[in-house]
Amino acid sequence: MDNITVLNHPLIMHKISLLRDKNTSSKQFRELIEEIGMLMGFEALRDLPVEMREIETPISKTVQPVLAGKKLAIVPILRAGLGMVSGVQALVPAARVGHIGMYRDEETLEPHEYFCKLPPDVANRLIVVVDPMLATGGSAVDAINLLKARGCKNIKFMAIIAAPEGIRKVTEAHPDVHFYIGCQDEKLNENGYIIPGLGDAGDRIFGTK
Ligand code: PRP
Ligand code: URA
Repeated sequence: MDNITVLNHPLIMHKISLLRDKNTSSKQFRELIEEIGMLMGFEALRDLPVEMREIETPISKTVQPVLAGKKLAIVPILRAGLGMVSGVQALVPAARVGHIGMYRDEETLEPHEYFCKLPPDVANRLIVVVDPMLATGGSAVDAINLLKARGCKNIKFMAIIAAPEGIRKVTEAHPDVHFYIGCQDEKLNENGYIIPGLGDAGDRIFGTK
């Protein structure tokens, strides 16, 4: 599969291991999600275009690379994706933020959209969709469908933990989207939760269970 990068970076793996621990507090969990969002964003934005600009240092004039001003939008899938936004925003403070609300039906595991608010010029932006968990892949596939229906052509997707089932589904459904995954886990359990995973990311971020 050409359109997936599994990061397997020691710093990211270490932080994911802390996330998995059921004794990690909600505060620490949120901090870790933000930090991993930043580390993953660093990798996902590796191919941002640069242009050459003349700069005068205290020593001499020089021509050096600066970001070419590509417009970005960070799009979290609510709720859990919200936790990753500040990490990516720290790297690209000028990025706009769009929101897509999705929840999984607990019985059918089918995603349901309940909210969508995107920047008006979203079709012209590089989109970085963020969601800590890629389980069946249903939420990711539908969120990307929605963005494509709004004209988005340049889309990246970041998930901290993914199940093989979800990876297969999203990479096949959207071969033109690049997926950045922190860690690939074993499989899904009978309730659609990732094994070993970290439990329910949204509940752990917001302390709702
Ligand atoms: C979680 C997670 C993903 C989705 C992944 O959200 O944040 O959006 O499940 O599952 P899938 O790959 O099988 O679609 P959830 O629906 O629990 O909503 P929440 O973030 O509001 O808790
Ligand atoms: N959503 C989560 O938050 N965790 C899982 O393991 C699967 C879906």
